[in-house]
Amino acid sequence: LSALNITIKEDESLPAAIKTRIYDSYSKVGQRVKVSGWIHRLRSNKKVIFVVLRDGSGFIQCVLSGDLALAQQTLDLTLESTVTLYGTIVKLPEGKTAPGGVELNVDYYEVVGLAPGGEDSFTNKIAEGSDPSLLLDQRHLALRGDALSAVMKVRAALLKSVRRVYDEEHLTEVTPPCMVQTQVEGGSTLFKMNYYGEEAYLTQSSQLYLETCLASLGDVYTIQESFRAEKSHTRRHLSEYTHIEAELAFLTFDDLLQHIETLIVKSVQYVLEDPIAGPLVKQLNPNFKAPKAPFMRLQYKDAITWLNEHDIKNEEGEDFKFGDDIAEAAERKMTDTIGVPIFLTRFPVEIKSFYMKRCSDDPRVTESVDVLMPNVGEITGGSMRIDDMDELMAGFKREGIDTDAYYWFIDQRKYGTCPHGGYGIGTERILAWLCDRFTVRDCSLYPRFSGRCKP
Ligand code: 4AD
Repeated sequence: LSALNITIKEDESLPAAIKTRIYDSYSKVGQRVKVSGWIHRLRSNKKVIFVVLRDGSGFIQCVLSGDLALAQQTLDLTLESTVTLYGTIVKLPEGKTAPGGVELNVDYYEVVGLAPGGEDSFTNKIAEGSDPSLLLDQRHLALRGDALSAVMKVRAALLKSVRRVYDEEHLTEVTPPCMVQTQVEGGSTLFKMNYYGEEAYLTQSSQLYLETCLASLGDVYTIQESFRAEKSHTRRHLSEYTHIEAELAFLTFDDLLQHIETLIVKSVQYVLEDPIAGPLVKQLNPNFKAPKAPFMRLQYKDAITWLNEHDIKNEEGEDFKFGDDIAEAAERKMTDTIGVPIFLTRFPVEIKSFYMKRCSDDPRVTESVDVLMPNVGEITGGSMRIDDMDELMAGFKREGIDTDAYYWFIDQRKYGTCPHGGYGIGTERILAWLCDRFTVRDCSLYPRFSGRCKP
């Protein structure tokens, strides 16, 4: 029988196929279904064709046999072609494994969009071992791969879980503007833009706007893009990242630390309990251990001692001294050696932002915290804020910031000030820790960094 002579036709005597998405097909054993998706894997074995079909909701193993496996149309199928497969869901025999523990016995199918083979084939486009920058050019295709798509699913579950914890803790979600005229984290990383002839910036952090919401909405949070014109290429810096930020009123520094602990512990727990994301975390990061409260507390001054005791040097290659910034490499060495989540607290005034409150028992240092995680280092930065007007003005002066553009922020100290604090979490950083990725670039849909603004 020549393959070319076989026409693929549906047998009208079969029961009508129920349209189903893959995640839903696993429970339909014995039923005739139709599923649409992309051909993720394709192999033939003794005149049987095995297709792993992907629709974003899951994967299903599909078997084409008999005439279906011989037809020229089937032999011409390629990876990433879209098809609608009709057939019966069967339970896998003992000892065999496939997603959902089932297989689709295909009796008929339609091609929706045939992807090219040969030179222009999908696999050639994202050939393994490709130069990372070529792979980034093909990000729109690379996202279809197992690892990247898994990280994106965990990312969605994480954001959902974070919102769930905020809801449980009675924080209200707000969406401050991204186009602003104030800096938060220093002038050197500002993206400037021409705003109808006025100078404006892409926001570095929504913190100042969150502070203005306390009096009207109480404790608030936002999940919003932040922008940093970082010049250096590192494993953990992006030019645009998704910033999870919260601001809380009438609390102490200790309350703030406990709140951050609760958020991290619970949102990770919810991700691990998620039926889709939980197994994906296991797959991406088999050794992941869920963090437990309380986190280790380490004061900056004791970290300096620790670094010197462990012969880790500062940026100048010298012993650390009080007042030095603990840069990325040293911070990661320390975090990896200690091997557990750390609250690094009480940083010196000079190396922190204008708005941070000083400690009452030591005015050289601030009520500030960085959360450090093994493999990544800093994933969160937070602090109590200066709530006294004069002290705030002194902070602006120290940093050489013209206060005109900040009148609305300063008004918060005038019309009913209160003790308050907050923090920001880099979504891609917490994901790099959770999913054990080498770089935050692997945790962003379309990463942005200097020299990369496409696709
Ligand atoms: O420590 P940062 O600069 O703190 C702030 O922006 C505060 N105003 C937040 C607040 O209190 N509301 O940034 C907070 C976090 C960092 O810990 C890091 O996880 C992430 O944002 N982050 C970056 N992530 C990716 N790329 C970058 N260039 C980042 N810069 C900061």
